Amino acid sequence: MPIETALRLYDPSAQEADLLAVPFGADLTADVELHLPVPALLAHHEAKGEAGEVVEVPVAHGDAVRRVLLYGVGDASPRALRRAGAVVARRARGRRSIDLRLPEDAGARGWAALAEGALLASYTMKIGSGGVKAVEEIRLLGPEEARPAIERAEVAARAVGLVRDLANMPSSEKNPEWLAARAVEVAERSGLRSKVWTPDDLAAGGFGGILAVGQGSVSPPRLIQLSYEPADPDGTHVVLVGKGITFDSGGLSLKPTDGMKFMKTDMAGGAVVIAVLGALRDLGVRTRVTGLVAAAENMPSGSAQRPGDVITHYGGRTVEVLNTDAEGRLVLADALAYADDVLDPDTIVDLATLTGAIGVALGRDIGAVFSSTDDLAKELVEAGEASGDPLWRMPLIDDYRPALDSPVADLSNIDAEGTYGGGAITAALFLREFTGGRRWAHLDIAGVSRSTADDGIFTKGATGFGARLLLEWLSS
Ligand code: BES
Ligand code: MN
Ligand code: ZN
Repeated sequence: MPIETALRLYDPSAQEADLLAVPFGADLTADVELHLPVPALLAHHEAKGEAGEVVEVPVAHGDAVRRVLLYGVGDASPRALRRAGAVVARRARGRRSIDLRLPEDAGARGWAALAEGALLASYTMKIGSGGVKAVEEIRLLGPEEARPAIERAEVAARAVGLVRDLANMPSSEKNPEWLAARAVEVAERSGLRSKVWTPDDLAAGGFGGILAVGQGSVSPPRLIQLSYEPADPDGTHVVLVGKGITFDSGGLSLKPTDGMKFMKTDMAGGAVVIAVLGALRDLGVRTRVTGLVAAAENMPSGSAQRPGDVITHYGGRTVEVLNTDAEGRLVLADALAYADDVLDPDTIVDLATLTGAIGVALGRDIGAVFSSTDDLAKELVEAGEASGDPLWRMPLIDDYRPALDSPVADLSNIDAEGTYGGGAITAALFLREFTGGRRWAHLDIAGVSRSTADDGIFTKGATGFGARLLLEWLSS
């Protein structure tokens, strides 16, 4: 299910719901008759006003009882307000509507963050079977000047919802053909051009990496391209490349069950590319953007690629495949080389659930950015901070490059001897070989693309990490 909750902005006098959320510290006298002084009430609950704190107060409302949620806003930063919005929306689950008063002086970014947090926390993976339905309508009460920021926040939140939907879809339904069909649907409703390479097209074009990874599956691979042409272009062209492995069993280098059970989300990077492209027109982005999703299912079978095979990528570089579980870099290599050869971008950014190693290095909260271009890394780190999809810059260590030398091909797909360590770094170095020296950044989102619990803006399952970050970067 996408985010089904409606979000609307109303004049503060237009209260209607039987649940009213008001920020700590706001004047309540206009809204409800409280028979207790607010400071004493908060002290009684030992509430300090931190973001995520909620004190619930039943109040008389004619003959009925209405509930007021006093919600903490912490330092009123976007980060705090995102969390506050999420917690309040969770408390409204199961209800038809909630009146949610915006903190008066939070400003456009703050209001947007509160609205975004409330919508993201209202995402539900499944309806009907267990779990409580998200609130049907969030009625934001605030000034008219908040409207543009809230509308943009809603576009971003719904893009995240689409990423979560695509990534949460079981691989029994989600194969490369299915993913391509969803991308084409998004293109049709968002004014994008689309192009899909079938296996024959891929063979004719020399996309040996995507074909090799997909050759063990009964569901053949696809390359998906979406193109956004702004009405008022600023003259720059960005290519976004996403890893679209619809299931990663590891191939013949088979994963154990524990390592495989969440691998339906191994196309999260590709889903971000699709959802971001789908939101650009609504945000009025002026950069030309092309999205590429390299989609394949990595399966073991009699037709699967074998460790030791040598494959030829788009553009002619050869790679010795020493581990079929290092498949993301193989499909991305083709797409990166194609972007460099044909699309002439000013900047390339790829996103991929590429390595377990990055989860070891940075954990589940912070994604990795690798780039040889300092200003691009800085832009992305800043967009991450502003959007709530935080990034940490990781190094491309040239001394580790010999890890990828092969005696039989231009490159090996892994550090076969394991002498260098730093698995996320050698993976990034591999990708760099296919970028033609262009301005490029690689986001390894393997650690952050899945949440283990319903918590704040996250619902258990896919997080949609990367969509808000890229939309922020492309619109600023
Ligand atoms: N899709 C995985 C990476 C991954 C791991 C994503 C955990 C999300 C959670 C990727 O294709 C993979 O299998 N990488 C290998 C690389 C290794 C064989 C060099 C890994 O990380 O073990
Ligand atoms: Mn793998
Ligand atoms: Zn993978």
